[in-house]
Amino acid sequence: MVERATWKTRLGFIFAAIGSAVGLGNIWRFPFQTAEFGGAAFLFVYLVAVVLIGIPAILAEFVIGRRAQLNAIDAFEKLGHPSWKVVGALGVFTGFWVLSYYSVIGGWVMRYIVGSLSGAYFGDPATYFGTVSTGLPALAAHGLFMLVAVSIVAFGVEEGIERATTVMVPAILVLLVGIAVYAVTLPGASEGYAYFLSPDLGAITDNLASVIPAAVGQALFSLSLGFSVMITYASYVGEDENLGVDGLSIAGFNTGIGVLAGLVAFPLLFAQGVSPDTAGPGAVFVSIPTALAKLPVGGILGLVFFLIVLIAALSSAISLLEVLVSYMVDNYGYARKRLATIAGSVIFLLGVPSALDTAWLGWFDGVAVNLFLPLVVFLVVVFVGWILADEAVAEIREGTRGGESLAVAWLWSVRTIVLLGVGLSLALGVYEL
Ligand code: PHE
Ligand code: NA
Repeated sequence: MVERATWKTRLGFIFAAIGSAVGLGNIWRFPFQTAEFGGAAFLFVYLVAVVLIGIPAILAEFVIGRRAQLNAIDAFEKLGHPSWKVVGALGVFTGFWVLSYYSVIGGWVMRYIVGSLSGAYFGDPATYFGTVSTGLPALAAHGLFMLVAVSIVAFGVEEGIERATTVMVPAILVLLVGIAVYAVTLPGASEGYAYFLSPDLGAITDNLASVIPAAVGQALFSLSLGFSVMITYASYVGEDENLGVDGLSIAGFNTGIGVLAGLVAFPLLFAQGVSPDTAGPGAVFVSIPTALAKLPVGGILGLVFFLIVLIAALSSAISLLEVLVSYMVDNYGYARKRLATIAGSVIFLLGVPSALDTAWLGWFDGVAVNLFLPLVVFLVVVFVGWILADEAVAEIREGTRGGESLAVAWLWSVRTIVLLGVGLSLALGVYEL
């Protein structure tokens, strides 16, 4: 067994977790789901889901990882029973599954960076998106994205991930705030803010049965829950650290970046008279260039925007790969470099259908968010709520002074609200498939 690495600093852990959380889920998926489910109505349900389900659930994954100080699969055996390893393995599998199409979108982003330099997407953004998102060009870009992600993971936890994410995370924040502030000055932006920020309660109650699984699924996806990722990252955390504070910071930052992405996307869309409900998975990729085309500095803004998205996507992809590699390093002591390369190649192959056709991408995404994520998190919640129970409370209390009642309240919420919320989303989500 190889000596386990640990985070050099507390911020190293928080930054890496934020690096995993903030990604295409915030910038690509969140705006397009918001548009699909009616704007502010979706935002409202999503925020409720983050607070009631996302935050307790991220703590549940942290508890497993830190308690076990092991990779996400063996952790379940050590803390429970060998058969629970299935849950960790299912999480790792979900990561495989998601990364296969996540990387495809990462490839589109790379193409858009080149497109910003050449101005290629300004002429006819919808046609450009069609060209970029299908066939061989998309496949090549998908391969390139995987190659970059694999290279970063090959360098290992401390040098690779910690260093990469401490640069990526602040860069994302600064660049997004810059564009959001710029968007305020555009004529017509206020309509975008109204669409995004003032909920129509009628619209919420009308189709609650589809909004709930969509919002809960988005919350889990966005916080990287159900992928064994947060379990793995927390396994590198020392005993004196207050997990509650870390979880709140990570969830707060992640949600803030999503809302910020909305504050960029919707005013830009409305300023250019682009309707959000025609958007689909191309929402950000068609609308942002459409909006930017009319602006004098459009190319530069586009370059900045898609660079942010690429940074965010890479740090998330790294975290997905890391989970699997960490398991293999713990168990078999193979070289990181070799493992990262093998995993990357398999994921590349799984992503071939999604690269060739966005209909496949939608199918892979739907299965992940409506089935795998709520299923894994449901099982995690049962494990933490009933198998770990008192041990879990002790973990949450660790590093806090007199945090006993908060920790007990957390366990209560895991056993009730989170269990019911995730169970309901699972049932409704499977029905939606
Ligand atoms: N949380 C990431 C996002 O919102 C997606 C992701 C999930 C990344 C799981 C890594 C692991 O984009
Ligand atoms: Na996210």
